[in-house]
Amino acid sequence: MFPLTRLRRLRYNAVLRDMVQETRLHRTDFIMPVFVRYGSKIQHEIQSMPGIYQWSTDKVVDECKRLWDIGVQSIVLFGIPEHKDETGACACSEHGIVQQATRAIKQALPHMFVIADVCNCEYTTHGHCGTIVNGDVQNDMTIHTLSQQSVSLAQAGIDMVAPSDMMDGRVLAIRTALDGAGFEELPILSYSVKYASAFYGPFRDAAESAPQFGDRKTYQMNPANSREALREIETDIAEGADMVMVKPALSYLDIIQSVKQSCNVPVVAYNVSGEYAMVKAAAQRGWIDEQRIVSEILTSIKRAGADSIISYHTQDIVGALNS
Ligand code: PBG
Repeated sequence: MFPLTRLRRLRYNAVLRDMVQETRLHRTDFIMPVFVRYGSKIQHEIQSMPGIYQWSTDKVVDECKRLWDIGVQSIVLFGIPEHKDETGACACSEHGIVQQATRAIKQALPHMFVIADVCNCEYTTHGHCGTIVNGDVQNDMTIHTLSQQSVSLAQAGIDMVAPSDMMDGRVLAIRTALDGAGFEELPILSYSVKYASAFYGPFRDAAESAPQFGDRKTYQMNPANSREALREIETDIAEGADMVMVKPALSYLDIIQSVKQSCNVPVVAYNVSGEYAMVKAAAQRGWIDEQRIVSEILTSIKRAGADSIISYHTQDIVGALNS
């Protein structure tokens, strides 16, 4: 008790403050989302996400080289196809946009770790994450197309698949399909705990994937629930998920913490588009110190328990950590 205990003793000296720091960001903590689209010579900035672009496959390789050179080792790809259809069939084609981008990136940068988001919403005309029957996403048909998509991505050379659709049983279906096609060693990062969140708004501009009717509440989780998150984690691990994800991150730090405490697989957090857009908007107005805010946000996500963080701030934080 005071005056014997003085917590400020460990705060007076900068070296000592560093020594007792409990959480540290490292460049290898981060995964950068990258959007690829059909066409050539395209670098199209997303209006609500300053500094984030849609890239055509010819230009995305240079962008990945730039990321690699600043120290980013891992990316997650999202694709915007040429034509959408009812079931998202083009997501399963060897000529699919992510398949093409994967081949190009892996050829130029064999050590870049390339993850693919596995979902249908970017590829369907209705913008939902699966096949629609009677006005809602049909679970068991959807997990079949997701399995085909995963095998096709594996054949294109992807390093890990990350299903983000929130269908029941999709991890088992994907694991079975990958194993059947000889990809027993390809890991699955499941978006296990994905909330029906308004924080995905800017992403849907970027991926051109806003649902054309209704919302995603019959498959994504209710933001008010936390115990249910642990059931999602349990089932996904039982089905073969190698890593699990909590998404969004910032309003869900409590969920990241309880997921971390309840399981023994690596936990990834997705610092999503709306979280990024709010920071960028305030920074552009000069209302906040962007670099300090970004570092504080990402540190809080790691402190809560995230082993890795998918973030649009990756390029900025890795740059800041280098200097
Ligand atoms: C696809 C998907 C979404 C995001 C990642 N994968 C959008 C959604 O579910 O609507 C959101 C990412 C972000 O907001 O940054 N299902």
